[in-house]
Amino acid sequence: MSQFNDLVEFFDLQERTTWQTELAAELFAHADLEPGMRVLDAGCGAGWLLLRWARQAKIEVVGIDNAPQMIARARQNAIQEKQPATFQVADIRRLDWAAPIFDRVVSTFVFFLFDNPGPTLQEVWRVVTPGGRLLLFNPGLSCTAPEMEHYATSRGWTGFDHDSFLQWGDVVSRRRRLTPADVESWWGDQIASFSHASLWNDIGLVTVAVKPSNE
Ligand SMILES: C[S@@+](CC[C@H](N)C(=O)[O-])C[C@H]1O[C@@H](n2cnc3c(N)ncnc32)[C@H](O)[C@@H]1O
Repeated sequence: MSQFNDLVEFFDLQERTTWQTELAAELFAHADLEPGMRVLDAGCGAGWLLLRWARQAKIEVVGIDNAPQMIARARQNAIQEKQPATFQVADIRRLDWAAPIFDRVVSTFVFFLFDNPGPTLQEVWRVVTPGGRLLLFNPGLSCTAPEMEHYATSRGWTGFDHDSFLQWGDVVSRRRRLTPADVESWWGDQIASFSHASLWNDIGLVTVAVKPSNE
């Protein structure tokens, strides 16, 4: 998906819109972070979600993305924000970490892009520590143009906030909308306990999967 190299300016702005700021806060609430935790963002884009979280909690953050120009921008953003984040070019379909080392893994606007998300999900799940969490954000069943227009208007979102939200809906219309059961199916026979939350009247779907602890 190297077309994302050409979209750096767009994502750098979109990740700071009202709606993405709201999403980062919602996921932060579900992450239940503790000081010292190691957190991975899989498909981190320009890095703003992690940089926000790192401002709010004393955590170690690592972002990976396979678009080198996206990672270059994320590194610049980390310097600008004075956050000691690590951003690396890497493919989330094949991770180099041999052992589970991340207490939390987050991934937003990524998995719905894959034709067959199961193998990639299981690769990312592999690096979550026992008792750790994987947090996903995907489009829900109401991620349609009329419902998004209605919702954006009801929230008073205008300008780039409004237009980028509707543009995301346009991308989704060419991909897929997801139910909790769709997302859970990506785990195959891997054991997890799930909770799901609807965001923006079911336009968005937040999934939290907890890995069994070793005890
Ligand atoms: C729609 S953007 C979302 C970026 C960011 N997570 C956000 O919330 O705005 C999808 C990102 O996933 C990255 N990506 C797509 N496939 C990937 C892969 N196989 N490995 C790593 N990153 C990938 C793209 O380069 C892009 O930055």
